[in-house]
Order: sequence, then structure tokens, then C-alpha cells
Amino acid sequence: MSNVLIEKALALREEAMEKLQLIKDEIALDGFFATYLSKKGSIKGLLSNMKDVPPEERGNVGSEVNRLSAEVQKAFEERKADIEKRKLEKRLKEEAIDISMPGRKAPSGRINPYHLIIDEVTDIFLSMGYEVIEGRDVEEDKYNFELLNVPKDHPSRDMQDTFYLDAGKLLRTQTSAAQAHTMVERSVDPTPIRMISPGKAYRRDDDDMTHSHQFAQIEGLVVDKNISIANLKATLELFAKKMFGPKREIRLRSSYFPFTEPSVEVDVSCFACGGKGCNICKGTGWIEILGAGMVNPKVLEMCGYDPEVWSGFAFGVGVERVAMLRYGIDDIRRFYANDMKFLDGFIGK
Ligand code: DAH
Repeated sequence: MSNVLIEKALALREEAMEKLQLIKDEIALDGFFATYLSKKGSIKGLLSNMKDVPPEERGNVGSEVNRLSAEVQKAFEERKADIEKRKLEKRLKEEAIDISMPGRKAPSGRINPYHLIIDEVTDIFLSMGYEVIEGRDVEEDKYNFELLNVPKDHPSRDMQDTFYLDAGKLLRTQTSAAQAHTMVERSVDPTPIRMISPGKAYRRDDDDMTHSHQFAQIEGLVVDKNISIANLKATLELFAKKMFGPKREIRLRSSYFPFTEPSVEVDVSCFACGGKGCNICKGTGWIEILGAGMVNPKVLEMCGYDPEVWSGFAFGVGVERVAMLRYGIDDIRRFYANDMKFLDGFIGK
């Protein structure tokens, strides 16, 4: 009997060793293990027949079967390691990266030219000690109009018809709303103000080459003691020279804004022709760049600054207009069209 079991084990070992050589993947390996090496697998399974072996031979037979089973187990482990190694090598080969290949260029965006202008203007005023105030696009009628001396039914509202929202709110028509906010916020304990506030404004305009229902402005406000129009002129002249070149002159023309008194339009001598007259300045030698004026005492008062003590000046620059003049852009709609061909023209400007 003992011989019979041992012989069966020997035959199974032969069979198993042959099969093992043919195995090429992990699934087949699993099948092999179940067939020959698991507890119920054929070699170990022989041990369940031990009851038929005479007791004095059991030790011998048992250890022989175990030894043969261990041999197959060892060969199995080796085969398994070999298959895993080959699999890894294959994967490494397949996933190898050719570092000598040129990379794929990731498309990148560009800074819109009107942001270039905002950044430049901001830098100029920061260097003069101004702070930058962030306004809000959704405003209350009060800040956009009333505190700026544009009461309900004032005719100048018509020119700034806008998008009205619920509960007395609207999309602001001018960044000037940020002036009113800043003064009101600081009026509890009034301190001097030197601020600019770049941002968007909205008007229900029909869009054409020079109009857009959404555009950008930069507001400026200075409030202090003894501020005069000389301070306004000096500040804007310095700004014009830094922005458009050291040879630029400015001139003030009388104008009207409800929140300033007196009000002016500010022209800069043409940076394209130097003042001789060209297409850009329409032959006049001057280009209008912004509106400005001395803060209307009524506005100071409504916003909590005593006009007997405080005075100030304000200005508002149209960002797209400056960008169009500066870069020779013919249509305001180009700023918002996300056209990379257009934007590519401003790399490094
Ligand atoms: N808010 C004016 C506009 O949108 C621009 C402006 C003019 C702003 C004069 C000012 C100013 O602060 O003093 O047309």
C-alpha cells in the first residue's frame, strides 16, 4: 500500500512538473495551484488515504508525500516569480517614455489688453501712495446715483440706463459708486482718502465699434484738507506722462458731471503724432482720456464728510478707450471675443 501511495505521488509530481513548464500566465498558475497544491489538490489529497496505510509505514509514506509535494510547491513558486518578472518587464517596455521626443505644448491664455492697462494705471497710482479699493458690480441705486448727486428723475440717468435687478439693486453704471461707498464707510471717523477703484460698469447700450453694454473703468478719488484743482491738474499730468510718455501735456476743458463741481474733460497731447494732428487725434493734436472734477460739496456732505473741512477731486478713466488708443485697436468688441489671434498680439506688451 505504501508503495502505491508513493508511486501515485511520484507520478503526480512528474505530471505537475510537466504542466508547470507550459504555464504562461497567472490565471493558469491559479488553476495549477488548485489542482496540485491546495489542501484538496491531488498530491496533498493523497494523505487522506493514510488510513489505508499500515500504521508502521505511515510516517515514512507521509513524509515522502510531503517531500514530493514540497518539490512541486518550490517549482511552482519559481515559475510564479518568473511569470511576474516577465510581466513587469513587458509593462516597463510598453510604458517606457522616450525622453528625447519633443513635448506637447500646452495652450496658454493671454492677459487681455484691458487688464494690461488696468495693471499699468494701478502701478502708477500705487507709486503715488493711493490704495486700490474693490467695488461691487451689483449696486444699490443709492450708491450708483443718489449719493453722487443724481436724484431720482434726474435727466442724466437716461444716459446711463442700465440693467435693473430686484429690490432697488442694479448693475452699476459707473465705478463712481465706489467713491460713495468709500466715503460713507470712512465717514464715521473721517480720514483722508487716496484711492483708485478699477472694475466693470454696465449700460444698456447697443453694442457697436465703440460701445459695449459692459466695459471697464478706473475711478479715482482724493479727499483731504485743502485740496484744490491744482492738485487735480498736477496729479493727472504726472499720470499722463507716466502712461503716455514724458513729453505729454494735458489740458482741461470745462464739462459737467453731477458729482463734481467744477467738472472737466481731460485731454492729453496726442502720443501718436506729438500734437501735430493725425488720424488718432482726428487732426486736433489732443485726445480725450478721462472725466474729472472737484468733488461736489453736496456729495461730500451726503457721504458724511463736512465740506467746510474737507475737499477733494475725482476722476474716471475708460479702460477700453485708453487701450484702443494705446494699441490702435479699432473695435471695442475685440476685447471680449476671446480670439487668441487678437490676444497673441499683446505678448510682452
Ligand atoms: N462716472 C463718469 C462716467 O461714467 C466718469 C467720471 C467723470 C468719473 C468725472 C469721475 C469724475 O470720478 O470726476 O462717465
